[in-house]
Order: sequence, then structure tokens, then C-alpha cells
Amino acid sequence: MLGRPNVFVEIGGLRQMSGSGGTWVFDGEKKIRSRLAASRPRHRILGLEDGRFAKMVMGSFRLRAGADPDPMTRRRLVNNRLVWRFLRRNSHPGLLRVFERVVDERGDEGFICEPLTTHLLNGDFPPHPATRSLRHFLETGAHLGDALQVLHSQGRVHADVTPYNVLLRGHESVLIDFDRAVRIGQYASELPGSGEGTQTVLTPQCCSPEHALRQPMTPASDIFCLAITMCSWVSEWVGVACPGEVQLPQVAIMRCAAGEYPHWDRVEERIVTTRVIELMKSSMSRDAAMRPQDGAAFAVRCRGLLHELPTETLDRPVVPLEQVAPWQEPREALETCYESLVSLVQ
Ligand SMILES: Nc1ncnc2c1ncn2[C@@H]1O[C@H](COP(=O)(O)OP(=O)(O)OP(=O)(O)O)[C@@H](O)[C@H]1O
Ligand SMILES: [Mg+2]
Repeated sequence: MLGRPNVFVEIGGLRQMSGSGGTWVFDGEKKIRSRLAASRPRHRILGLEDGRFAKMVMGSFRLRAGADPDPMTRRRLVNNRLVWRFLRRNSHPGLLRVFERVVDERGDEGFICEPLTTHLLNGDFPPHPATRSLRHFLETGAHLGDALQVLHSQGRVHADVTPYNVLLRGHESVLIDFDRAVRIGQYASELPGSGEGTQTVLTPQCCSPEHALRQPMTPASDIFCLAITMCSWVSEWVGVACPGEVQLPQVAIMRCAAGEYPHWDRVEERIVTTRVIELMKSSMSRDAAMRPQDGAAFAVRCRGLLHELPTETLDRPVVPLEQVAPWQEPREALETCYESLVSLVQ
């Protein structure tokens, strides 16, 4: 059966193993020692001793043991299997590579994936590799546009492209976390599927206006989020989050809903080249029709600029962050954003 691991493990026996000091996953033939890398309400990320990672569906052991068939957990397990199958069938250098399905010491089910590096924008990390030069920036845009097109061409929207969900394989950007993916035209919600009647979940600082306003998702929604992710690497602020401001999710969602990005000055100072700024701005238009319509269209625009811009422009290093003006509170921008949001919902 699709995605089912070929080993079933007794939950009682598993508890004993976790008592031996570590935890394990079973890939059908052998146990691989693991440690908890991240724990979330819906799943756990395990780091395996062979360097790989595993994404496990929290509570799925109950379903596998035939007990307490909680519908939410069932949907998440089905989704985890669907994501795994999609990624197995659609390999692309910009998409997470997955390996076998496994069960962990609790009996929870999930899949093994390649080890990637997280790049957080918190000052502890070197500049993102995409910000070394405009050439790197545009090549990364084309690469991630191509990766998104693998989903878009099959009628899917990722619906959560953020700096947290673009990791690195060496210097190459890789899209992860397909848990919120929906079919084109559906609503992004807590659970995969149509999303009707369930709560919307989103990353407040980096969501598309459609997502924030609970409108149907389209490939152009991913383009908004891809552009905001690329601008985050340049501004070194995650999406619309602002320094010194109480990080209220409502404020961030409001900015995203209105398509008001507060860091244009900083991005413009660092990137300088007008045509690249124009591409970023059009990709972050509040009106989805003004954006490149899907991953392929975005990649074409990036490659067009790589072809047309002079070599010295492309290879010049991006202006260092130390040389740009200190960040200023965007009071006016917030007011404008509030006004445009009010006009949207009236
Ligand atoms: N293959 C991987 N290699 C290295 N780290 C990973 C990998 N997959 C996930 N992680 C780490 O675990 C975090 C959470 O993974 P993921 O995005 O799949 O789940 P999530 O529920 O969205 O969590 P979050 O809310 O933090 O985004 C990632 O941001 C990353 O730091
Ligand atoms: Mg994530």
C-alpha cells in the first residue's frame, strides 16, 4: 500500500529502546539511532545518526495501532504519505529529496529526508549565498521558480514559501515543508484539502495577500512568497517583520494582506539595479494578476535579466549591509497599509 512502511513495531518494545538513552527509526531493515531536532504540535523532526533527517507525524502511532482514529491526525498522516509520494516521483534539485518511510520508537510514521542546512536571519549567520551578487540572486530565483513549477504544473500551490522553508544544500537553495500545499483554487488551511470550514494557518510575516484574506490560492500566491523570501535574505528581516516593533502577528498579516512591504528602502540600497527591484516589486503586487503567474514565468524573468544585464552589474557584490542606512520605523507605511486594508475589507 502507498507509503506504508514495511515494518510494524510493537509500541511496548519501542518504549524500552528509548529508555536506553536514544531514540530510533526503523526503515524496514535496520534501526537508525536518532535525536530530536525539532518538536512541533503536529510533528517531530529527527536527526538521524547517518546525518539524514526524518519528519514524523505526531500521534500517528495511535492510528497504526488501530486506536483512537482522530480525524486530524489521520489527515496529517495521509498528507505526509502524499507529500512523500509526490517528492519521490518529482525529484528536482530545488525540492527536498526524500528516502524511505519509517516508524520511530513511539510507532509514529514519517519519512527520511536529506540533510540540509538552515539559514536563519538572526545575525548569527553569514550573508545568505543568494546575496553574494546579483547573478547569485537571480540564479537562485530561477532555480526556486523552476522548483515551484514542478508543483504548479501539477495543479498544486506550496502555500508556505518562507525563509524558514528554504534550506541549503551547500550553497543551493532547497524548498521544504509541503504540509500546507493545496490544489490551485483551494483555501490554505490547517489541514490539507479544500480548507473550507477549517481555520487558516499561515506564517504571518511571509504570507500572500490571498492567504491573509482567506481567498483561493494560486501559483501567483507562491510567487509573492518567493519574492518576499528573496527580499528577506537581502534585508535580513524575515518578511514584513520589523526591528524594535512588537511582533504582533496581526500587524504582519495586515501588511501582507495589503501587499505593503516595509523594507523596500533597504532592499533597493543593497540591490541598486532598478530592473531587479521592479521584478521583486511586481512579484509582490497585492493584485495577483500583476505578478509573474507561476514558477516558470518567474524563472523566465530572472533568466531574462541574467541574459540582459551587463556582466559587471551581475558580478558586482551586493552592497554590504553595514553601508546601508539604519532602519527607520515605517509609521506612514503602517498607516497606509491600514487604510488600504480597510478599503479591501469594506
Ligand atoms: N531535511 C532537513 N535538514 C535539516 N533541517 C531540517 C530538515 N527538515 C526540517 N529541518 C528543520 O526543522 C524545521 C521544521 O521543519 P518543517 O519546516 O518541515 O516543519 P514545520 O512544521 O513547518 O516547522 P516550522 O513551523 O518551524 O516551519 C526546519 O525549519 C529546519 O530547521
Ligand atoms: Mg516549516
